[in-house]
Amino acid sequence: MSTTALKIAALAGDGIGPEIMREAIKVLRAIQKKHAVPLEITEAPVGWDAIDKQGEALPANTLALCKKSGAILLGAVGLHYRDSAVPKEKRPERAALLRLGKQFDLYANLRPVKLPPVLAHLCPLRPERQGDGIDITVVRESTGGLYYAYPRKTEDVLEVKEPGIPTQRVARAVDTMALTATEIERIAHVAFRAAWLRRKKVTSVDKANILETSILWREVVTEVSRQYPQVTLEHMLVDTAATQLMLQPTRFDVILCENTFGDILADEAAALVGSVGMLPSASIGEPRQGRTFGLYKPAGGSAPDIAGKNVANPIALILAAALMLRYSFGLDPRARTIENAVAKVIADGYRTQDICRLTEAKDRPVSTSEMGDAIADAI
Ligand code: IPM
Ligand code: MG
Repeated sequence: MSTTALKIAALAGDGIGPEIMREAIKVLRAIQKKHAVPLEITEAPVGWDAIDKQGEALPANTLALCKKSGAILLGAVGLHYRDSAVPKEKRPERAALLRLGKQFDLYANLRPVKLPPVLAHLCPLRPERQGDGIDITVVRESTGGLYYAYPRKTEDVLEVKEPGIPTQRVARAVDTMALTATEIERIAHVAFRAAWLRRKKVTSVDKANILETSILWREVVTEVSRQYPQVTLEHMLVDTAATQLMLQPTRFDVILCENTFGDILADEAAALVGSVGMLPSASIGEPRQGRTFGLYKPAGGSAPDIAGKNVANPIALILAAALMLRYSFGLDPRARTIENAVAKVIADGYRTQDICRLTEAKDRPVSTSEMGDAIADAI
């Protein structure tokens, strides 16, 4: 193994961010010690934490650290109750998270949702709906679509009611869902390549009975699929996909979707494994000189209601750290070490409150830090 240090920018951020970051770093340190992986982890502020310390959600020194790192590990950003204190563009979700995505062109967001039979009890669905276990990867376009395209604004317009009734001013908000064929094509390739390594099925999700973007999406995805004859492609409308995830989750292998659809469906899929606190997220770009830069975080948010109480589930971020080792640092075996350690402590009954059943004697309620300790010990 190369002895060049693997540089990680660790941005804890807001809400539960610092607590879960502590545990993720604990687990990475265990990997470093036990498996001699040379990690160089540097922490820097982001989000409201950075606004408080340095006046902006993504300060220049934090961005500079990200640029010289091989990957970003991020806890969470955003505190909705503080939003009115700064203009919309300066709020952490836009000024830090979306900006980092654009800055590094992290267009491919991958969210693996896995429920092996040993964790079946975490799933809210009846056992017969779980089959031999749920194993889905949501591939979400993440630098375009509704969250990125312009115009995006709130304006005053004149509302014409009935003739004779004076017109009046009314607020009107605009978001834009736009995607180029190039954007669709490159994310489609990510999905087909992912499926090729898995069960060889892509479900492409859209709203092609209504949306222009979806009609183009369907055309381009179908075209790309010709290059992957071993992979089966099915198209599904997004509303159908929402129900199918609940009724027949085992029919899915890779789900490919636009930014907004992926945001929503990935969180829905997270419910299948018990909690959004279990779902990691990897946003990656194009490999350059054999290296793939990425931003790794939990799929969920900063959860201010439970922040600072040592009760948050750190597993999503710990699994995100595993994805980082796999995709950005090419250390698949070490990623598996982390994933196996998580599976082991869950199988042993360790439960943060979001996945703990009070009625189940085998469930062992633990805090955020105890969960981190248990996973680090299992490395
Ligand atoms: C997520 C989050 C973010 C996103 C928000 C906070 C901007 O919901 O990672 O799913 O949609 O990208
Ligand atoms: Mg989301």
